[in-house]
Amino acid sequence: MASQITLLFYLLSFLSFSSTISSYNILNFGAKKGGNVDCVEAVIRAWKMACNSSSSPANIYIPDGVFLISGVRFNGPCVNKKINFMINGTLMAPSGYTDSSEWFTFDTVEGISINGGVFNGRGSKLWDCKLGDKKCPRGATSLEFTNSKDIEIRRLTSIDSELFHIVIHRCDNVNLDGLNIVGPKWSPNTDGIHVQMSTKVNIRNTRIKTGDDCISIGPGTSALWIERIICGPGHGISIGSLGKDEGLKEEGVHNVTVQNILFLGSDNGLRIKTWGSNVEGYVKGIIFKHVVMNNVMNPIIIDQNYCPHNEHCPGKLSISGTQRAT
Ligand SMILES: *[C@@H]1O[C@H](CO)[C@@H](O)[C@H](O)[C@H]1NC(C)=O
Ligand SMILES: *[C@@H]1O[C@H](CO)[C@@H](O)[C@H](O)[C@H]1NC(C)=O
Ligand SMILES: *[C@@H]1O[C@H](CO)[C@@H](O)[C@H](O)[C@H]1NC(C)=O
Repeated sequence: MASQITLLFYLLSFLSFSSTISSYNILNFGAKKGGNVDCVEAVIRAWKMACNSSSSPANIYIPDGVFLISGVRFNGPCVNKKINFMINGTLMAPSGYTDSSEWFTFDTVEGISINGGVFNGRGSKLWDCKLGDKKCPRGATSLEFTNSKDIEIRRLTSIDSELFHIVIHRCDNVNLDGLNIVGPKWSPNTDGIHVQMSTKVNIRNTRIKTGDDCISIGPGTSALWIERIICGPGHGISIGSLGKDEGLKEEGVHNVTVQNILFLGSDNGLRIKTWGSNVEGYVKGIIFKHVVMNNVMNPIIIDQNYCPHNEHCPGKLSISGTQRAT
């Protein structure tokens, strides 16, 4: 009898465990539509529930509508290894700017997906500052993943980031697919996607119009696959800049494939740029293929003496006579 009860108990707990998908709609945690009320606390409450819930997957819903978010950091590690953000609405930053370098940041997470959504970083006040008196904060990256693995970002739209739109830093196994990244041609330092110290990153089917590099690739990147991208306006797809910090040994960049790309009215196309410094590092195993350049100022640049505006140039040339660009 006792063992039958135990068996029944096991069966019941198994059934309830396997059939639960937990859902967390931010409206149930106090978020308000309309863009007037900061919804950070609601989003954090939903995150805490999802992160430590043992029923998998956990879905965090952000419904239609505009939600004001002043800035949010999602810290792991989480018990849950499958958390999906299902976003139908728009996440909107405040209209001004602060000293913060982050808007949406995920740190030490695993098995996160973001599906849909519009992220509006409202960077224009900061750009005006930078283009004016120049004593301005550096700005916030709209969406960053750091120290994380098994990440999917699909069908997301990023508009008007203050600084970089998306940063992938110290991550393993990241898929970005079907993104739309939009900012004005004149917006300063607004790289579309920056990848650094990361491996197995795939970027596919993405449209990028911005004021700096469409995609920039920093030190320590390997197994990076970039395919079916339309870039422009923007400064192209760049490896680097590398080797800026004199005297340091820097991780190299290797095994990068960039294919089926259309550059439309971008300043540059394909670029590799390293400072002429004494930094040890390398770039190797790079394939660029099936690329169409339409109305591109500098289609291909390999610059081992990178020094924009000729300021603080280290002057240790490993090659001379290459072209300079910014
Ligand atoms: C998850 O639970 C752990 C242990 O109780 C706790 O330290 C951590 O802060 C929780 N994470 C979140 C996001 O609430
Ligand atoms: C989001 O949009 C999809 C497709 O239009 C719809 O099926 C779903 O119910 C919406 N979810 C929410 C939470 O609004
Ligand atoms: C190069 O990267 C691709 C993915 O982009 C990966 O499948 C392949 O195994 C890598 N090759 C080496 C030699 O690491």
